[in-house]
Amino acid sequence: MNLEQNVPLQPYNTFGIAAKAQALVRVRSEADLLAVLADPQLATLPRQVLGGGSNVVLTGDVKALVLKMEVPGVRLASETHKHWIVEAGAGVVWHDLVAWTLDNGYPGLENMALIPGTVGASPVQNIGAYGVELQDRFDSLDAMDMLTGELFSLNAAQCGFSYRDSVFKHASDGAGGLGLAGRAVILRVRFALAKCWKPELGYLDLTRKLQETGIHKPDARQIFDWVCAIRRAKLPDPQVIGNAGSFFKNPTVTPEQCADIIARDPKVVHYPMPDGTLKLAAGWLIDACGWKGKTVGHAGVYEKQALVLVNRGTAEHPCTGGEVMTLAKAIQTSVYERFGIRLEPEPVVV
Ligand code: EPU
Repeated sequence: MNLEQNVPLQPYNTFGIAAKAQALVRVRSEADLLAVLADPQLATLPRQVLGGGSNVVLTGDVKALVLKMEVPGVRLASETHKHWIVEAGAGVVWHDLVAWTLDNGYPGLENMALIPGTVGASPVQNIGAYGVELQDRFDSLDAMDMLTGELFSLNAAQCGFSYRDSVFKHASDGAGGLGLAGRAVILRVRFALAKCWKPELGYLDLTRKLQETGIHKPDARQIFDWVCAIRRAKLPDPQVIGNAGSFFKNPTVTPEQCADIIARDPKVVHYPMPDGTLKLAAGWLIDACGWKGKTVGHAGVYEKQALVLVNRGTAEHPCTGGEVMTLAKAIQTSVYERFGIRLEPEPVVV
């Protein structure tokens, strides 16, 4: 086990916020987690799991043992009549997995190209983009119970996936509740990729690409290239401008609430959901409140996509997590005052 003390976390969170971890262990296998549990001093420390750091806002130093997930490896684990089952370690960079599956002839993840972060984090918030969510391609995962040191596997139903949500985001309520936050550490994830591949082209940005290029039967590689191009045009590269992707979830409202908003703002972007509710584009709501391109302190709202908050700090004056949260609260207040909707942050606030 490799234990480090007082570790700067700025390189390990895509927002680029300066904060330190009291202690940090790089987890390359279950043996590293067992070593943490066996160490009397480490076992008593609170723990914080960190993947690619692309979905966290650090609001101060982390007074905990950070478990930096670095479990490597991608392989074809098995196949069934209908599916390829691909397994990847929690530390694998998500986009590298997507590229590997395409290079090896197992399409199905292409709509989720370029989502920042690691494989281990992908089930936590049920990542998704351009009409495909992780739960649509998920087979199972292996995790360790940090209370008992036992390894266990979960299937999709047991993960309780919903829009940007899963059991890994909810704390156990102590009364047999299913929440696994702070308890389960994901080590490996398996994906079921259909041998009978079908393109997923329903999302507006992709429909536009079909029209623009005149290609009507794109293969998975073509869709991958389109998704990369769309994302690069619209979302900031964390290597250049620190950010955590979408900062708020797209809220859902009842048909009555939606009709009320449309009556006042006919242009509001909304999508019907299978359960009869409507999803509103949070980016549109924030944009409509005039926030696009605004900066408060050293935190800002990205000028090409109002749903993304960005780090506008400098080396001398780095952006703090507190500044990001102050801006987030100001945005929540103005969206609530204008539309009566409470926006919920998407990243985990530590
Ligand atoms: N819009 C505006 N102004 C803005 C931003 C958006 O008017 O400043 C409008 C757009 O014109 C569009 C609508 O809002 O009509 C929705 O925007 P977009 O298509 O960019 O998608 P999104 O709802 O902002 C979601 C995910 C993204 C994912 C894309 C593509 C959430 C919270 N975000 O964004 O996920 O890449 O769809 O599928 O669901 C992420 O989770 O970090 C992420 C980037």
